Amino acid sequence: MIRYLTSGESHGEAIVGVVEGVPARLPLTPDDINTHLARRWLGYGRGGRSKIENDKVHIYSGVRFSETLGSPISFRIDNGAYEKDKAGWPEKMAVDGDGAGIEKVTLPRPGHADLAGLQKYEFEDIRPVIDRSSARETAMRVACCSVARRLLNEFGITVGSHVVRIGDVGFDEPEDWVERRNALLRDGGARALYEAADESATRMLDDDMTERCIEHIEDTKKQRDSLGGIYEVVVTGVPPGLGSYVHWDRRLDGQLVQAICSIQAQKAAEVGDGVRNAHRPGSKVHDPIIHGDERDVSTGPYARRRNHAGGIEGGTTNGMPIIVRGYMKPIPTLIKPLDSVDTETDEAQPTRYERSDITSVPAASTVAEATVAYTIANAFLEKYGGDSLPAIRRHWEADEEARTGETNRPDDAG
Ligand SMILES: Cc1cc2nc3c(=O)[nH]c(=O)nc-3n(C[C@H](O)[C@H](O)[C@H](O)COP(=O)(O)O)c2cc1C
Repeated sequence: MIRYLTSGESHGEAIVGVVEGVPARLPLTPDDINTHLARRWLGYGRGGRSKIENDKVHIYSGVRFSETLGSPISFRIDNGAYEKDKAGWPEKMAVDGDGAGIEKVTLPRPGHADLAGLQKYEFEDIRPVIDRSSARETAMRVACCSVARRLLNEFGITVGSHVVRIGDVGFDEPEDWVERRNALLRDGGARALYEAADESATRMLDDDMTERCIEHIEDTKKQRDSLGGIYEVVVTGVPPGLGSYVHWDRRLDGQLVQAICSIQAQKAAEVGDGVRNAHRPGSKVHDPIIHGDERDVSTGPYARRRNHAGGIEGGTTNGMPIIVRGYMKPIPTLIKPLDSVDTETDEAQPTRYERSDITSVPAASTVAEATVAYTIANAFLEKYGGDSLPAIRRHWEADEEARTGETNRPDDAG
């Protein structure tokens, strides 16, 4: 199993990460990671920090001559804000000293971890809560999970995403986007999907909708407010049989919902048309089984004409693309003040504005790709695991051959 740990504060010197359990002999270069770090900065509506950061990963260990060694891999990403934004972060975030003369933050911001964190850790200063609960941490998550993504790519499994709604503007029903999405999946799997989405300033598959969302973001900015939204993560090339129904914690649907909701500000997730399915009769929901030769986007001898289940039945993949949707709440830092209470004086006070995004749904969708890739990679390793890439490939090829009667050696799917 691949595990990862991240450490680092948003305005500290750097964030660091360690990934353990990666098989040996997996090709890996900093570019495999930096590509996705750059994608995390995509999206209209990002705040000033996007102009400061130029995330690049430094790999310290676990990789030699562009291949993993089977040993833990360690990473560092420097925080541009630490030096560049001239706010005195080296002093404010100093590792040593006693903090004398450093102003405390005592006004908790609604919707942030501020008050809950202050109470939990018995701090007098909210700064440590702000700095660790910040979504800056997702840069390192993307880095760590890009290793899992690289592993999946070796087996033709790709992960992509696109945004379907920002605040009030977006598609209402999956039928409004599935045709366009499935055409991309047929052409080039989930990689074609994310590449098409990356072309749009809001990561949407429709130019008109992109324009309408940009206007909506601009209007919201004028009203000094913020927005959330909905996005979809899709995984293609997934063999049937990942995950399991035999025990609660092996159910892949449960793991995927956790993967999405583990990201800051993601407050709901659904597998397939999960939410809408609850409103409809079974005959319109469950996906009839057909022979694989009639298949659309799937692997193996069986397929489905539709995919309301999102590729998972009984907590186990059924060979159809995996579809998970994430729901992000509006950004909690608002230009418009909200009521709060100073925790030092107990005086009622409005919150003060700091640098912030109006919306980060496009960025969140790329982080969700990463956490989903990590979850799928572990389900894949549970079934086909081995110490090295050649060992895993032997297990996978034997299974593919038994299931399909042929060996499909995919090209590196990217
Ligand atoms: C990619 C990304 C970027 C974010 N950017 C901001 C931001 O600029 N300003 C802000 O107030 N919250 C931002 N958030 C959300 C906060 O990190 C999050 O709401 C906060 O830490 C509280 O956690 P919770 O919403 O899970 O309760 C962002 C979240 C993500 C995933």
